[in-house]
Order: sequence, then C-alpha cells, then structure tokens
Amino acid sequence: MAAFRRFPYGGTDNLSEKGDLSLLAERLAAAAKKRYSCRSYKDQPLECLNELEAFAEDGYEILGSFSDVRFCILRDPEASRSIMKGPWGPLPSLLLMAVRTDRPHFLEALGYAGQQVILEATALGIQTCWVSGMFSLDKATKHFPGLEKHWNVVAVSPLGYASANAKTGAKQKLFKFLSAQRGRRHGLDVIMHPTELASLPPVLVNALQAAAQAPSALNQQPWRFAIRGTELTISSKHPAPKPDHPSRLDLGIAMLEFAAAARALGEDGFWQPRQTEGNPIAAFIREP
Ligand SMILES: Cc1cc2nc3c(=O)[nH]c(=O)nc-3n(C[C@H](O)[C@H](O)[C@H](O)COP(=O)(O)O)c2cc1C
Repeated sequence: MAAFRRFPYGGTDNLSEKGDLSLLAERLAAAAKKRYSCRSYKDQPLECLNELEAFAEDGYEILGSFSDVRFCILRDPEASRSIMKGPWGPLPSLLLMAVRTDRPHFLEALGYAGQQVILEATALGIQTCWVSGMFSLDKATKHFPGLEKHWNVVAVSPLGYASANAKTGAKQKLFKFLSAQRGRRHGLDVIMHPTELASLPPVLVNALQAAAQAPSALNQQPWRFAIRGTELTISSKHPAPKPDHPSRLDLGIAMLEFAAAARALGEDGFWQPRQTEGNPIAAFIREP
C-alpha cells in the first residue's frame, strides 16, 4: 500500500497519487458497507495485523495538512482488557488512536484518519468498535510508546474476529436498549435541507448517503450538510462547537465516508477545514 501521509494539502496533480487515492477510496467505500460496531469477540489471535499496522503507520490520507495523528496496535489480550471499561469479554487486540490536541481541527483529523484504519481492518476481515469514553486514559497512555506533551489517546477500538452472537448477543441487546436509535440512521432530509438536496448532482447524493451511514458516538449523527455559495459544507448540529467538542470526531469520520464514496464514484474532491471555533467545519472542494 502506497503512503499517503504526505498527500499535499489541496489535492495533487500527480497522476500516480491520484490513482492510488482512488484505489484506496474504492477499498474503503466497499468496507464501509460491511462495517458495524462489534461488541463480542472470539478469543483468537488475529492474522493480518502486520498489514493493518503498516497501513496505520503510513497508508492513510491525512485531513488537510494535519499529520499529527498516531496509532498503536496492542497485541496483548490482558493489556487490552485492562484498558477497556465495561463487560467486553475477550479482546485479542486493541487499536489506540492518539492525536496532538493543541492544533486546530485535531478531532476531525483523528476521525478522518481513524476511520480509514477501522475500514482497512474491516477489509482485512477484522471487526472493530469505536470507543471514545469508556476506557482508561491512564492505562492507554501507559501502553502507547513515546507519547509527548499535548498528545492524547482520544479513542480506542477492539480488533478481533466477531463471535457467533456478535450481532444478537446480550451486550449488543443491552447497547440497543441504552441507545434507542442504534443502527438506525437519519434520512437525508434531516441532514440536509430538501431544497438543497434536490440541487445536488447524483454522485454527491450517493456520497451523502454513505456519510449518513457513518458511525457516531451513541449514534447521534451530529453532522449537517449545506450548500454555501458553490460549496458543499459540513457543520456540527451543535451551534458553536469548540475545537475539542466531541461532535468533531464524528464529523471527521463522516467526512471520510463521504470522500471515499465520492472518489470511488469518480468525483475527485477533498475536504478543506474551515472554522476552528464554529460552523461550518469544512467545505468539500470538487476538482474539475
Ligand atoms: C466516536 C465514537 C465513540 C463510540 N463510543 C462507543 C462506546 O463507548 N461504546 C460502544 O459500545 N459503542 C461506541 N460507539 C459505537 C456507536 O454506538 C455506533 O457507531 C453507532 O451506534 C452506530 O452503529 P454501527 O457502528 O454498528 O453502525 C462509538 C462510536 C463512535 C464513532
């Protein structure tokens, strides 16, 4: 897998990079259709972790010019269990996601990069579940080598093979009970004004449909899309999200799902981050 970390801000004129990026988009967009949050794992070591580790090192595209994201894959089931809070059962491996938190757009950048690693795991047959609150920050930091000042582990995800009852078991049912909306998604008319939606070209409607399926904390789906002038923008449903507002992590994830779907359909575009203290968070720049 080619490295995209140095993929330049504002797109690229390099045809080989463009080609690599669209292959990556196709792979991720296909994986997004299969991904779900898995909460029961087999007590079984994983194959392909080296491949995933290589991807998490330098296989993904950064958001804008933000490259201060790092991933660490723990292969020790005991350590993985000790970091997670709650009744998870066996956890063969854990993905730790860290970001430098004194930079603008750090949460969107982590969501954008992290969702690529999550989808690459899906493509490799490994199940995942984003977790941003219910883990021990102290223990996760202890297991993350070389984290410097201003760097925080913001989210983690189990990595494993789904146990037979992963979609229907007690943990999944409990989670459904706690989060009535789990699994359901808003219609497009909720995340974008119907008049604006009607003016979008079909390829962007398809990309919006993909973004609407993105995972989010408690399935809150805090993203809203709009047309401002000639641009498609993404905003948080919260009126003035500060740089550390949790919805920004979800927005970064949705931006990735949108971009992957759009590029897989032949639309070369990229997200350009905008306001640091409010909405809109970013605009999707279409390339001619
Ligand atoms: C940032 C983030 C944090 C999440 N935190 C948790 C969590 O702490 N525990 C959990 O069981 N699921 C967590 N989830 C998973 C969401 O509940 C899940 O994505 C959502 O309900 C949609 O379901 P799906 O991922 O199966 O499509 C989180 C998801 C995201 C994106």
